[in-house]
Amino acid sequence: MDIKNRINELIDYINKASYEYYVLDNPTITDQEYDDYYNELLSLEEKYPELKREDSPTNRVGGEVLDKFEKVTHVHPMLSFDDIFNEEEIILFDERVRKTIKNPCYTLEPKMDGLSGSLIYENGVLVKAATRGDGITGEDITKNIKTIKTVPLRLTQNIDIEVRGEIYMSKLSFEKANIEKRKNNENEFANPRNAAAGSIRQLDSKITAKRDLDFIAYFIPNPEDYGLKTQFESLEYLRKLGFVTNYKLNKKVDNVSEIIEYIDDLSKIRKDLPYNIDGVVLKVNNLDDEKKLGFTSRVPRWGIAYKFPAEEVLTTLKDVKFTVGRTGKITPNAIFSPVHVDGSLVSKATLHNYDYCKDKDIRIGDVVSIRKAGDVIPEVVEVKLDRRKEDSIPLKMITNCPFCNTLLIKKDANHFCPNDKCPARDIESLIHFTQRDAMYIEGFGDRIIEDFYNMNYIRNVDDFYNLHKYKDELKTLEGFGEKSIENLLNSIENSKNNSLERLLFALGIRYVGKKTAKILSKYYKTMDNLIKADYEELKSIDEIGETIAKSVVDYFNDEKNLKLIDRLKKCNVNMRYLGKEVNTNNDLVNSKTFVITGTLSKPRDEIKEVLESLGANVTSSVTKKTDYVIVGENPGSKYDKAISLNIKILNEEDYNKLINKS
Ligand code: IVH
Repeated sequence: MDIKNRINELIDYINKASYEYYVLDNPTITDQEYDDYYNELLSLEEKYPELKREDSPTNRVGGEVLDKFEKVTHVHPMLSFDDIFNEEEIILFDERVRKTIKNPCYTLEPKMDGLSGSLIYENGVLVKAATRGDGITGEDITKNIKTIKTVPLRLTQNIDIEVRGEIYMSKLSFEKANIEKRKNNENEFANPRNAAAGSIRQLDSKITAKRDLDFIAYFIPNPEDYGLKTQFESLEYLRKLGFVTNYKLNKKVDNVSEIIEYIDDLSKIRKDLPYNIDGVVLKVNNLDDEKKLGFTSRVPRWGIAYKFPAEEVLTTLKDVKFTVGRTGKITPNAIFSPVHVDGSLVSKATLHNYDYCKDKDIRIGDVVSIRKAGDVIPEVVEVKLDRRKEDSIPLKMITNCPFCNTLLIKKDANHFCPNDKCPARDIESLIHFTQRDAMYIEGFGDRIIEDFYNMNYIRNVDDFYNLHKYKDELKTLEGFGEKSIENLLNSIENSKNNSLERLLFALGIRYVGKKTAKILSKYYKTMDNLIKADYEELKSIDEIGETIAKSVVDYFNDEKNLKLIDRLKKCNVNMRYLGKEVNTNNDLVNSKTFVITGTLSKPRDEIKEVLESLGANVTSSVTKKTDYVIVGENPGSKYDKAISLNIKILNEEDYNKLINKS
């Protein structure tokens, strides 16, 4: 047999064997046979690299190292569902659905605890994969996704299709990855979700390959194009195409009591599953019904995510330590022996404020229950008073700041250090500046920042950008070497190129979180524009309310902050929004202000995105400055206001015409 045929045959054998093993749960060859085929293929491909196919299983080991991840714009926005937490909310959801759909049928699926991914196949071959990102644009992770053994490189049919599913790390691989981390003296992953997210975002796909991730498929964004009539058929079709689905656990039901029964059953077996799940996803099964229900401005109305209650774990309170936040707020923190909570190892939890401790009569030595609050920071929920020992020690509130010794003041339930110059505040702000969602400067643990602060190297955030001047000195500091300082300075240098929203978030403007920073950056495009923004205009932006608008105006009215921005500019820190390129050719849309109201055939966010990509601003309230109001079905008071202000009204057809006039 000629070489080419043999290579083709081996690839087909191995891919078929994987399909039978992972998808059908029905292995047909032994591990030894698999290894023999694989090794034969590997050596043939080494000798004849020109014959290597795109869908060869040997591609799963990873390849060259990337400089960065390219951005990918999703063809269909990647939305997620609203979360609900109890039976009552399930009943409400069902009632809402029943207002539009007579006898709804639902699919119930385990809610996988990983991160969602979008996979694009052309002619049956995997050509692109992307993370969700902000739902509109994600990152290109094609190289990394190919290393996942449960991602088919070729489908059983030569079709073009986009498939969504969850990228996750099994409990077993998570244990293994952490053993490896411990061996290398590295920080362990907090939980399998973080481990999966960290592993799929490796520039070196060989590292991803070692982490042994998995993929479960659960969604096709345009099922009607494949003749599918229900979500359940989509799931079956995905399995036929070669994807692993949760076929043993996915279920069809048609009333609330069956939903609740399913949730109960699943919570019982949850611990025994090989992967973490954090709830149940409910989807209206019939795709025509889905269409009828449509979307709100943010989320589908045809589905919802029920989240299991957070796990509560008991531990003994050893000590309480007070920390000072960026605003000077004092937080008591519970210190205890490490315990696993929802898959993460934790040894600290917030006690919120002293009133909270007093209300619950929390004492050192008590048995307390810990739970993850809002998914990240754990909190102490309850004291087990029946298990209190005689020698438990009541908590005493501190009177002075643990950092600068200033007398604390009390505002409502919280204590504050009123000293603007309190080093703890500065240090917290510096730490915040370097965080992953802010300027993402790697290599600075909290300790290093505290040391650099105390040694006077970094007092304000712009000092990061002058740190290179002390390179030789820094290299001689204990715990640092040529390489680690080099890495640190490189990471600082790279952060200068961040898009505006990161800088805005990093500056720690009150109430300007990650999401708000993005909204402001997209709207104003440059720091200078934002500095000039007035309160009224800020308030008219979708999702910006009075509190944020006031806080932004106050921040930029403060001379001290303007000087800081000037210093950052002098250090060449980027002050522009680097998001999607805006096409300004369409004069009818560019620089115009739009308001959208009523139900349209597409999600509002999608229309907003299109308008913004053509240079328009989309705001939430109709004012004299509004140029157009796009009106869908059942418009509200915005429509009346537009009429009264004589503002041009567009229906969906007019809108489509307008955006196509370039
Ligand atoms: S369907 C429009 N199905 O949970 C939403 N999502 O809010 C389409 N997830 O971000 C997603 N298991 O990452 C879907 N069986 C499942 C899922 C699932 C986990 C995640 C997904 C999404 C979020 C849902």
